[in-house]
Amino acid sequence: MSRPSITKTSCRLRFLQSVVCGASRVFDRRKDLSTAAFLTPCWLNYQRPAMRHLRNAYWCELGVGMDSSVRVSDRVKIVAPANLTLGCNTKILNRVILDARGNLDIGRDSQVGFESIILTSTHRFEDLDQPILEQGMRFKPVRIGNDVWIGARVIVLAGLTIGDHAIVGAGSIVTRDVPKGAIVAGNPAKLIRNR
Ligand SMILES: CC(C)(COP(=O)(O)OP(=O)(O)OC[C@H]1O[C@@H](n2cnc3c(N)ncnc32)[C@H](O)[C@@H]1OP(=O)(O)O)[C@@H](O)C(=O)NCCC(=O)NCCS
Repeated sequence: MSRPSITKTSCRLRFLQSVVCGASRVFDRRKDLSTAAFLTPCWLNYQRPAMRHLRNAYWCELGVGMDSSVRVSDRVKIVAPANLTLGCNTKILNRVILDARGNLDIGRDSQVGFESIILTSTHRFEDLDQPILEQGMRFKPVRIGNDVWIGARVIVLAGLTIGDHAIVGAGSIVTRDVPKGAIVAGNPAKLIRNR
């Protein structure tokens, strides 16, 4: 059987992208895009190359600042997508959680490894007479530079900057800014060496 021509394939893709955008407008855009959490819909979780374009259409529709070179894998959860920007060629791998309520900016050519969590929020807890859950939240932006590699299962806390060309080892918890070109690892993440 002959393969479909490129024009036919891209027409189909454009059609499917518009279906995805329409569905997300109906089901998801009623929620507040700068506070609510969104999980990749199950019907976009198939491991097929074309699904990346559909997932991109979905996240763009929800306000993520990104272009078609970005790869957002399946089962990703994004809180406040309207406050998230992803630079070109950046990859967000499976089951990552990006909390962008306090603004999250990830540069170009960077990668966030499997099951990592990036936070831009924390609970207030100053008042001992009130339950923590009633004291509200504090939001602080996170900025991740260009050509940064964040390994699998990393947690980045709110308010931090990870410099260009830095590497964060698997399983690390980042509690302080990471300088440009540094390789850090562990809990809390400490400098191993510079690149
Ligand atoms: C951070 C990393 C890149 C460093 O690699 P490396 O330069 O080859 O480092 P080494 O293996 O020489 O280790 C250097 C030291 O750091 C420690 N170290 C390395 N990675 C570590 C990690 N993730 N957590 C804690 N310590 C770590 C080593 O134990 C070693 O300590 P020592 O000198 O006391 O023995 C690598 O260990 C890593 O974590 N890669 C991420 C892999 C991953 O997440 N893959 C999924 C793809 S997205």
